[in-house]
Amino acid sequence: MSDNFIQVRAVHKNYRVEKTEILVLRGVNLTVRKGEWIALLGASGSGKTTLLNIIGALEKPDNGEIIFDGMNYAAMTREKTSDFRCSKVGFIFQAYHMLPELTILENVKLPAMLKGRHGEKVTAEARELLRKVGLGHRLAHKPAELSGGEQQRAAIARSLINSPLLILADEPTGNLDSKTGGEILEIFQNLHDSVSGETIIMVTHDPDVAAMADRIIHMRDGVIAESAYPKES
Ligand SMILES: Nc1ncnc2c1ncn2[C@@H]1O[C@H](COP(=O)(O)OP(=O)(O)OP(=O)(O)O)[C@@H](O)[C@H]1O
Ligand SMILES: [Mg+2]
Repeated sequence: MSDNFIQVRAVHKNYRVEKTEILVLRGVNLTVRKGEWIALLGASGSGKTTLLNIIGALEKPDNGEIIFDGMNYAAMTREKTSDFRCSKVGFIFQAYHMLPELTILENVKLPAMLKGRHGEKVTAEARELLRKVGLGHRLAHKPAELSGGEQQRAAIARSLINSPLLILADEPTGNLDSKTGGEILEIFQNLHDSVSGETIIMVTHDPDVAAMADRIIHMRDGVIAESAYPKES
């Protein structure tokens, strides 16, 4: 089971813009082991974000299937899918996507509240996560009052509030200077090394980031062109 934690089978995805059909994913096959950290590389437009969104059940493939922790997405209702996503997947986006009118603490609590978890226990968990990412002193701030690196750390805390089985991160250090980016990567490294041993799929253009991952996958023209375990060789 844990070797077949996530299975992506023959996934195809096209977008149609006016009369033009864009073939984005052309038969992606990927098996993810539980606890592995994958760096996803590839040229701009090669389909990385699309693949991440499909694995995270934010988008549906046109063809092929995703089986995550024994659940086939195709067999789930829309409601079940959003519940599954909220419970099992933590998303971290390049542009943070924090709600501007909420405080950092409220932003971090939001995914828990969407699951119907309210009250002091969730607040305490959110505080603890923010403390872990070094933002214990910024709880009442609004996102606009934080730096990019701080917002990204808050986004990481938010992605963890429901104890996800999978973390999907789309260029999480793309907007940050190298020192701040390094601090963010250290948080991922700690998550990966922790007892729960998070499974991480991270899109990146940065070779230094890729060097920290267990496995490096290159996408080219909508398929996986290369997959290697540099630390195991
Ligand atoms: N909603 C959409 N409608 C139409 N075309 C789309 C849509 N989303 C993505 N595309 C197209 O699909 C292709 C792949 O996009 P995707 O965002 O997956 O690339 P990417 O590998 O993440 O690139 P980048 O490194 O620039 O983020 C691009 O050519 C893009 O224009
Ligand atoms: Mg992208």
